[in-house]
Amino acid sequence: MKALIASGGRGTRLRPITHTRNKHLIPIANKPILFYAIEAAVDAGITDIGIVHTADSLEVPEYVGDGSRWGARITYIPQETPGGLAQVVALAEKYIGKDQFIFYLGDNMIVGGLRRFIDEFRASGCNCFLTLARVKDPERFGVPEIRDGRIVRVDEKPQHPKSQFAVAGIYLYDHHIFDAVRSLKPSARGELEISDAHTVLIERGLKVGYTEITGWWKDTGKPLDLLEANRLILDNMTPAIHGEVDRSSEVAGRVSIEEGARIINSRVRGPVIIGKGCVIENSYIGPFTSIGDRTEVRNSEVEYSIVLRDCRITDVGIRIEGSILGNDVEVVMATGKPRVHRFMIGDQSRVEVA
Ligand code: DAU
Repeated sequence: MKALIASGGRGTRLRPITHTRNKHLIPIANKPILFYAIEAAVDAGITDIGIVHTADSLEVPEYVGDGSRWGARITYIPQETPGGLAQVVALAEKYIGKDQFIFYLGDNMIVGGLRRFIDEFRASGCNCFLTLARVKDPERFGVPEIRDGRIVRVDEKPQHPKSQFAVAGIYLYDHHIFDAVRSLKPSARGELEISDAHTVLIERGLKVGYTEITGWWKDTGKPLDLLEANRLILDNMTPAIHGEVDRSSEVAGRVSIEEGARIINSRVRGPVIIGKGCVIENSYIGPFTSIGDRTEVRNSEVEYSIVLRDCRITDVGIRIEGSILGNDVEVVMATGKPRVHRFMIGDQSRVEVA
């Protein structure tokens, strides 16, 4: 069995962070989202992995490498324009050949691994096996219509969903999917929809099965989803203190402090991860916060946030909460008179002031 991971698309809902980096490389608990997908495949015993990436950028191949660090072999498949998930599958036909494969959307995160799905798919004898998650907002997803325990069609982002389920971005296929994706026409939004390919398989009488995801699953398409994913991963992290914590600091709960980080006269209440070379001084870092490498926090409070590398947060009078800060971001207290807010903010940013 092979794995195919999608890492293209535009990431528009995560701007401005995605102006300068591929969304799949945004860190959750200081590790790129995409790495969780690769590790999930490897943990399930799959070492042959294809990654579809945006053709006009080598960011993903350069960052991820050949897979040897996971004991895997990664093959890169470029996609010229983000023409939809069915196009992603079509592009991989030569790479997959006659093998069965798991198709994993690189922005999806799941706790509990993939092995169960693979075993159920194999035991079912299905041509296509979907993973379903019960959600409050099915209209954001591919939605199955289920009758008498069978999926009879799948609609992409329907206005009137026929069930409470989202089709999660973890699909298992045999080679029949390639005929199905080849037969598709672009949808109203101009994409070749994977949901349409599933409906085609059903109409052709092929066997489409499903299983319900009972644990935690998230599509990290929007900023709040990133914070939630970060919360969950930190909650399950194995704590480890490799940096320095001085005597006047207090570290409580599930906390990881990486090499070279220094905690000075501060309170860190986990779950929290603090990256290499960070300095946290006279500050409070509260639950569900990830701080990227070499970031400095002084005389400030940060909670339930993702702060990327090389940031500087200094003398900020009000707690920073529910925030995502990109690389090299500065948030500092204004000095001098008059006291003003002074901004230098890129396109499509969002700031709330008090
Ligand atoms: O997360 C599950 C949902 O994913 C499913 O329920 C939907 O049926 C499916 O269409 C998809 O919906 P999204 O709106 O979340 O798809 P998105 O455009 O965000 O792309 C999903 C992933 O695939 C993301 O990692 C980017 C990548 N991608 C997307 C497109 C359109 C590509 O690599 N190439 C593409 O052309």
